[in-house]
Amino acid sequence: MTQIINDKQAVAIHAAKLVEDDMLIGLGTGSTANYFIEELARRKKEENLQFATVASSTVSMIKAQQLGLDLVAMEHVRQLDLYVDGADEVTEDLTLLKGRGFDLVKEKLLAAASEQFYVLIDDSKTVSRIGENYPIPVEVAPFSWQMVLRSLQQIGATGDLRSNSNGDGLAITSHGSLVLDMVFDSSLDADDLNSELNRIPGIVEHGIFYQLASHVFMGKDGEIIER
Ligand code: A5P
Repeated sequence: MTQIINDKQAVAIHAAKLVEDDMLIGLGTGSTANYFIEELARRKKEENLQFATVASSTVSMIKAQQLGLDLVAMEHVRQLDLYVDGADEVTEDLTLLKGRGFDLVKEKLLAAASEQFYVLIDDSKTVSRIGENYPIPVEVAPFSWQMVLRSLQQIGATGDLRSNSNGDGLAITSHGSLVLDMVFDSSLDADDLNSELNRIPGIVEHGIFYQLASHVFMGKDGEIIER
């Protein structure tokens, strides 16, 4: 039995209970996804649960490896049963903002290829509109950033290239992309924003996960609220 220390862990344990034998499970990235990976490892060890995993990032892959989970390389995966990940913002209609990390491309691929996508959050992540708390990350091919920035500015957005954590260079994603962190007019809804970002050439991927989540589990004061 695991000692539960916070809402992120509680919600991760709840999601891990829904995993069944023989599933192929996508592992998200971040502190909540880490709790989920740990609970999967516990169920494998103590309950002999049989499953395979595919990781959305190097960091999740290493964690899964260290805990003895079976990993399949993404190159071998056409579809999966379940993808489980955290999010930075979640709206009432289950639109997500993701991508404060550097693994947006793999995260969205796995979410889209999965039968079910469970999103695990605490109540600090709920918002009334996408972009309320954070700029929207837009991954761009390095050679395209100026043209993409101009296209984004033409639809009223403001923003710039993301700096690295030391502030002495640019942030580079796992795929060698740059990231534009953009603020959009609050009158644009997620559907419109998603369509606008999908149509601009040079964008590798962006942080709006529209109509991808199947369930959101929110931990709040020890309770699990499902949407
Ligand atoms: C990764 O790119 C992000 O989208 C994370 O899923 C998100 O930041 C959630 O992180 P935490 O689980 O650490 O809050």
